[in-house]
Amino acid sequence: MVDPKLLKKMQEDWDERARLNARYFVNTARADWTDEEFYRSGEQTVAEEILTDMINICQGKDPKQMRVLEIGCGAGRVTRALARLFGEVHGVDVSGEMVALAREALKDFPNAFVYQNNGMDLSVLPPGLLFDFAFSSIVFQHIPSREIIENYVREVHRVLRPGALFKFQVQGDTRVQSSPDDTWVGVPISEQEAVEMALRCGFEPRYRHGAGQQYFWLWFFKTGDPQPALGGD
Ligand SMILES: C[S@@+](CC[C@H](N)C(=O)[O-])C[C@H]1O[C@@H](n2cnc3c(N)ncnc32)[C@H](O)[C@@H]1O
Repeated sequence: MVDPKLLKKMQEDWDERARLNARYFVNTARADWTDEEFYRSGEQTVAEEILTDMINICQGKDPKQMRVLEIGCGAGRVTRALARLFGEVHGVDVSGEMVALAREALKDFPNAFVYQNNGMDLSVLPPGLLFDFAFSSIVFQHIPSREIIENYVREVHRVLRPGALFKFQVQGDTRVQSSPDDTWVGVPISEQEAVEMALRCGFEPRYRHGAGQQYFWLWFFKTGDPQPALGGD
């Protein structure tokens, strides 16, 4: 079972980071981002990770007809770029402070929706909403719990349409040591752990890039049914 103290700590720590300098903690490349540069960095993430990969992501669909989920949307940096490209975008984030900033960043995008979640699942989303693609970048690398990461993978499986892709990044450097007392350094995931997690959660782990490195990208396609969660019925 996920420790409620860790969920509370993640929320409080990220709220504090958002109050101190949200844009720096979202993207530590700079401490003094202008609006323009900050949002351009989000466009760059979309150019590198999404526009290069539209065959896997869209699978023949018109992007404007697609509903997309982003886990850990932060201050809306990438969410804005996603909202320009896709028909509808829904972002969740554990930090209410980040969510407030994202809502402000997205106020001119009627196709973008942002929710504060509990740090471990997608129960905050409107019931029955199904997604054509799910994405998460520089979020799981901060989560110090394999159980939470796997719970998100199961939750994404629950809300994705059959065949759809969950593309996400984890900390792949297995020398990294995480601790539940530190919500900045996430738990590393090895290649084998990633494959086993995908299979347990009903995904085909079709591609991987960057195993052993900080930016370990995973392409999980929803192909089957998940196995019961450990400790479940
Ligand atoms: C480094 S920021 C990246 C934000 C965004 N993905 C981007 O690239 O602009 C990490 C974000 O993940 C959120 N986060 C951290 N742990 C989370 C969790 N367990 N569930 C949901 N969001 C989480 C933080 O609040 C923060 O907004």
